[in-house]
Amino acid sequence: THQWRGIIEEYRDRLPVTDTTPVVTLREGGTPLVPAQVLSERTGCEVHLKVEGANPTGSFKDRGMTMAITKAKEDGAKAVICASTGNTSASAAAYAVRAGMVSAVLVPRGKIALGKMGQALVHGAKILQVDGNFDDCLDLARALSDNYPVALVNSVNPVRIEGQKTAAFEIVDALGDAPDIHVLPVGNAGNITAYWKGFKEYKADGLASRTPRVWGFQASGSAPIVRGEVVKEPHTIATAIRIGNPASWDYALAARDESGGFIDEVTDRQILAAYRLLAAQEGVFVEPASAASVAGLLKAAELGLVDPGQTIVCTVTGNGLKDPDWAVAGAPQPVTIPVDAEAAAARLGLI
Ligand code: F0G
Repeated sequence: THQWRGIIEEYRDRLPVTDTTPVVTLREGGTPLVPAQVLSERTGCEVHLKVEGANPTGSFKDRGMTMAITKAKEDGAKAVICASTGNTSASAAAYAVRAGMVSAVLVPRGKIALGKMGQALVHGAKILQVDGNFDDCLDLARALSDNYPVALVNSVNPVRIEGQKTAAFEIVDALGDAPDIHVLPVGNAGNITAYWKGFKEYKADGLASRTPRVWGFQASGSAPIVRGEVVKEPHTIATAIRIGNPASWDYALAARDESGGFIDEVTDRQILAAYRLLAAQEGVFVEPASAASVAGLLKAAELGLVDPGQTIVCTVTGNGLKDPDWAVAGAPQPVTIPVDAEAAAARLGLI
């Protein structure tokens, strides 16, 4: 009887909906805030992971998509469109099914993880692979929504940010106050914008005594905000954040500066190390882009920027099953045995 109802019902009074708004939901949100033992030991802090891969389509995008598709439905839209590095398209495709709408998705050719492509396909999205990067896809999606009867559901749509800010609410609700530091990966910069909005709202309404410092991390090959200039040909193995010209760039700078935080970069090597640490030592399987937050925290700790005793939350944004290639690559091949218990026991080192 006490099932989580999805972010719109749970935070109705903080979202732009009315009694007659047709809520489209897969009961997203309500994701685990998991204490991270190894990260806590390494930093001397109390570190938690906000596990957004536990959302219905496996990423935080569902928080924004329930709002975006709900509002598109309220406005009478029949079709939605987005540009995506994969997760937004998976989410848009699923929520469009719930709403009885057509979804169209523009993805950079060859640069989206197989799991995400599979999701868009199985949910019946119309998929166009663009000979370009995410930034080109977003330009196209904007042009199409400006000129044709199709609603844009990228995070440049402000209701996406409204939905995504609920992750900050959940963290404060769980901890009893805002953490000292909140860490997250940065791609198109919608999520950092959303978290900062959520933390500020709770503080303004007296539900938190403070706001956290916000630390964002981009992948080194796709770090326009760190460099202070557009990256024309972004690269990183973390395809979800392979973005050279973030749409919410200015909002990300505001989140950084108003919170007293910073935005820095982590290399692919650091991302993969954090990815493996999370899986092998915390029991949490995330996709590579998600590990950028944890890689960033570890980098900051190594640089002596993390005072012990603080409460820190790292958002891990997407499920590891989205992009399992990185789990398999470099791992030892499983051995093959006959149907024989003794052989199995020997192989397992039990005898
Ligand atoms: N982590 C994951 C797993 C993502 O899919 C994204 C963005 C981010 C982090 C970065 O969030 O863009 O709000 O700064 N994915 C988008 C997509 C671009 O199309 O799925 P951001």
